[in-house]
Amino acid sequence: MSRRSSKVCLLGLLACVTGAAAQAEFSIELQDYCPPGFELTELNRCELQTLYQNYDSLRYAGVGGPRTGLPAARDGFSPQQIDLGRYLFFDPLLSGDDSMSCASCHHPDLGFTDGRARSVGADGREVRRAAPTLWNVAFLNRFFWDARAESLEEQMLGPLYDPQEMGSNPNELIAEIAANETYRRLFGEAFGGSEGPPSLDMVYTAITAFQTSLISLNSRYDRYAHGYHDALTEPEKEGMNVFRSFVARCAECHTPPLFTNQQIAVIGVPEPEGQAFDEGAEAVTGNAGLRGGFRVPSLRNVAQTAPYMHSGTFATLREAAEFYTLGRGHALPEEEKQRMIVHWHIWEPNLADAELDRLVDFLATLTDESFKPRVPEAVPSGLLPIGTLPEALAQRVGHSQ
Ligand code: HEC
Ligand code: HEC
Repeated sequence: MSRRSSKVCLLGLLACVTGAAAQAEFSIELQDYCPPGFELTELNRCELQTLYQNYDSLRYAGVGGPRTGLPAARDGFSPQQIDLGRYLFFDPLLSGDDSMSCASCHHPDLGFTDGRARSVGADGREVRRAAPTLWNVAFLNRFFWDARAESLEEQMLGPLYDPQEMGSNPNELIAEIAANETYRRLFGEAFGGSEGPPSLDMVYTAITAFQTSLISLNSRYDRYAHGYHDALTEPEKEGMNVFRSFVARCAECHTPPLFTNQQIAVIGVPEPEGQAFDEGAEAVTGNAGLRGGFRVPSLRNVAQTAPYMHSGTFATLREAAEFYTLGRGHALPEEEKQRMIVHWHIWEPNLADAELDRLVDFLATLTDESFKPRVPEAVPSGLLPIGTLPEALAQRVGHSQ
């Protein structure tokens, strides 16, 4: 059984709550077994196991059908690295003013988002985009809405050091971790063999390891895909057929089993009232054809991650689905109409109200949080895990911060 125990706040609740015990040596032990869905190899590495690995997309004609294989996943981290990453992910020590952790904007109870249209950083101001889910990031090859980062390690430099997000800096971050006795011990365990102090690369590796363990591939849709036909109700199957139809064309971009083809597409989602136009991938690539283009998001656990789109324009899945049937380019700003090149799969499917309802029914079958990791009871810094609670969650649990 778990060696990690609940006797984590040895110095007493007050010290944990006030965060005064920055140097406290809690009895935090790293897990020596893999998260669910992974198998431990003799070399102490966790390897992903999923039924989709049995499917070879090339042999099953019709890429995008239920038995399409998955892209290669990042795996092969040790159980200790993954678990250390979990503590780092939830530790506000990683922000400049100790107020927020990664989980402040990527909370497990909100589908690893913050429930906001646009995230709020440590300085209290809104950033311009919404926090995407972190479920299944192990399979992605480009990160951020505009696909500007190519690895998870590169991606996290954004939030960690952006003064508008966590507002730390590399020197401060590694100095604080190296000064913490618990972290020194845990890094020693997770990166055994390296005698020296923790390095930034080890920090990035551990957080990457944790994020790649967030696998969601056991939804009712997946059971259906693997052959259990009663896993979906009739209305849900109807929704799946609309989703895959050449009229709606959703699956052309939101391709199963990941429900994204990872490409950038210009679909012409309007900004919420008062938000400036977002040029999206054009700003990153310099390609005018990608003006207003964003990476196709995965729709896994999408029922948990409202509001929707890069800056939270739509409050509900019904509104998001309806956007596609209101006509190609219907919401483009006037001054962009001649400039933006909307993707050829965005057309005028004229979906009936009932078809939109069925689409929403189907999207809800992509929910699977069975491998949701546990929020640590305490983190090595002695600060409160999560830091500032996302507003949506604070409201739900009945208090605000
Ligand atoms: C202030 C809120 C906030 C914090 C704190 C935060 N993020 Fe994010 N995260 C975001 C937003 C907003 C985006 C999307 C930004 C964009 O695309 O331009 C994002 C994007 C991501 C992505 C890309 C996902 C994808 O599908 O492309 C990953 C991975 C990620 N964050 C991980 C982390 C990690 C790890 C931490 C902690 C080191 C962290 N985030 C801290 C708000 C936050
Ligand atoms: C041409 C490719 C393409 C097609 C076809 C397409 N989508 Fe999308 N979808 C995208 C892109 C790109 C985004 C993100 C756009 C943005 O944020 O501005 C998106 C976003 C979404 C979102 C919001 C996800 C989130 O996490 O915020 C939903 C829901 C969605 N699509 C459902 C559908 C449905 C249903 C259909 C079929 C009616 C469909 N999509 C067809 C490319 C496509």
